[in-house]
Amino acid sequence: MWPPPAGSTITNRAAIGSSSFPTATCEQPCAALDQEAITQAPAVFVIAAVYERTSRKYGAARTPRYVHMEVGHVAQNLLLEAVGLGLRGMTIGAFEDDALQNALSLPVDQRPLYLIPVGHPR
Ligand SMILES: Cc1cc2nc3c(=O)[nH]c(=O)nc-3n(C[C@H](O)[C@H](O)[C@H](O)COP(=O)(O)O)c2cc1C
Repeated sequence: MWPPPAGSTITNRAAIGSSSFPTATCEQPCAALDQEAITQAPAVFVIAAVYERTSRKYGAARTPRYVHMEVGHVAQNLLLEAVGLGLRGMTIGAFEDDALQNALSLPVDQRPLYLIPVGHPR
């Protein structure tokens, strides 16, 4: 989640929301990180998946299906909860995976799949 919990670094916010994002390492999809929803929202949830955790239990063939279904469930719950709090969320899937993973300093096995900026409706 963004902002990060107390004690974690805040440098990633700048990496995502400003021109300091490492655009040199990615091409067209990177532009999505300049989207207003990302740069303006007070909080951006990042849903990342550890595919290995699922494949250990369910096998490689079912893993992408199960992970993506679950990510959809998480996103839907998050969006519904936002509305319940009088807020609004938006789903963002267009970004450069590796560049985002690096910008957030995510462990190598945590693949970012969804960005959900949340804020007050205009
Ligand atoms: C999986 C998925 C990924 C999406 N990625 C983006 C995105 O990267 N950028 C964007 O502007 N809209 C994206 N959208 C669409 C928006 O989330 C949203 O549906 C659209 O802005 C229309 O919202 P509205 O119906 O509330 O007006 C995505 C939608 C889905 C379902």
